[in-house]
Parts: sequence; structure tokens; C-alpha cells
Amino acid sequence: MEYQLSIPQESHIPALRELELTCFGAHWAATDFKRELENPNSHYFILTAGSRVVAYLGYWQILEEAHIISVGVAPDCRKQRLAQRLLCYMLEQCITKGIQWITLEVKDSNVAAQELYAKFGFSIMGRRKNYYQADRQDALVMWTDNIATPEYAALLQRIQAETSPLVI
Ligand SMILES: CC(C)(COP(=O)(O)OP(=O)(O)OC[C@H]1O[C@@H](n2cnc3c(N)ncnc32)[C@H](O)[C@@H]1OP(=O)(O)O)[C@@H](O)C(=O)NCCC(=O)NCCS
Repeated sequence: MEYQLSIPQESHIPALRELELTCFGAHWAATDFKRELENPNSHYFILTAGSRVVAYLGYWQILEEAHIISVGVAPDCRKQRLAQRLLCYMLEQCITKGIQWITLEVKDSNVAAQELYAKFGFSIMGRRKNYYQADRQDALVMWTDNIATPEYAALLQRIQAETSPLVI
């Protein structure tokens, strides 16, 4: 299957909301998504298969840090390294922009996501109690080491070698 990487437009918001609902069981309002897509500090990417949005990733840039807001892959497209390819693309972009550290929150019970982030060198640095209101689960706070180092570039290169790169 061929996947196309692109930057989502307002016309993609219904598909993004649908994917978000499937992946997280929660729904940002269309106006929230619109505000996100218009925010110059927000960066979103989608992968499409034909006209279907199958994966997305969003992050905020805050000076030399990036905060991953969402990564989601449609259930029938998981385990094909789509999230990995999106993260590779994001991390390359972050390094080019001079971003040094990446952080995110992940549910305590979300082993798949924690394994994904661990592969990219994220470590658990903290815990936010009852962070997720719906089920009162804790969030683990994960951070990378400095990504602007030869060591991190070597890690990223090893991961990138597992798949073909995404291009916009
Ligand atoms: C987490 C999620 C984004 C992973 O997407 P994916 O495209 O299936 O992941 P990939 O195929 O790119 O996997 C890359 C790596 O992540 C890890 N991983 C992914 N899914 C995993 C699973 N179910 N169990 C264990 N490790 C897993 C593995 O290390 C894998 O590397 P490998 O292929 O060498 O084993 C996807 O399961 C998802 O959308 N879940 C619901 C939303 C979510 O939890 N998002 C993250 C919120 S913080």
C-alpha cells in the first residue's frame, strides 16, 4: 500500500476527528482542530491511502522544545511502521529547526505507545497523577535526550534504515 504524507487542510478536519475518536475515544471539536491547524507553533502531518486519512501526528514547538500532542494510526493499518515513519519525519524536521528536546505524555497502560517512544530514545521522567480525566489514569511524562547530537543522529539513522522515508 502506498501512503502519501501531507499537511492537513481544513477539509481534512472531519477525517481527523473520526481518526481521533477511533484512536483515543475522545473528540476535539472541529473548531479546536481548526485553531490547531492555524496555530503557527502547531505542526500536523497526515498519511493518506487514496482519499482515506489513516494516520496523523501533531506537535507543538516551544522554543527549543517540541511537545508531541497526538500520534494515531487507524487500527487496520497498525504494525506497518506508519507511526515510526511519521516520527522519523517529525524528528528530522525538529533537528533541522534546532529543536533539542522532545516531550510527551502517555497513558500508564499504553504499552504500544511507550514501546514506540522507547525505540526513539524517550525515557520516562515523571508521572502526572490522574491526568486523564475520563478513566483517572496517570500519565507518564517522557523526554528524549538532546536530539541535536551525533548519538541521536545515529539512532535515528538506524531506525530510518528500517523503512523508506516519507516525503511531502
Ligand atoms: C501507538 C500507535 C500510534 C503505534 O502505531 P503503529 O503504526 O502501529 O506503530 P509502528 O508500526 O510504527 O511501530 C513502531 C514501533 O513501536 C512499537 N510498537 C508499536 N505497536 C506496538 C504494540 N502493539 N506492542 C508493542 N510495541 C509496539 C514497536 O517498538 C515498533 O517497532 P518494531 O516494528 O520494530 O517492533 C498505534 O497503536 C495507535 O494509534 N494507538 C492508539 C493511539 C495512541 O495510543 N497513540 C499514542 C498516544 S501517546
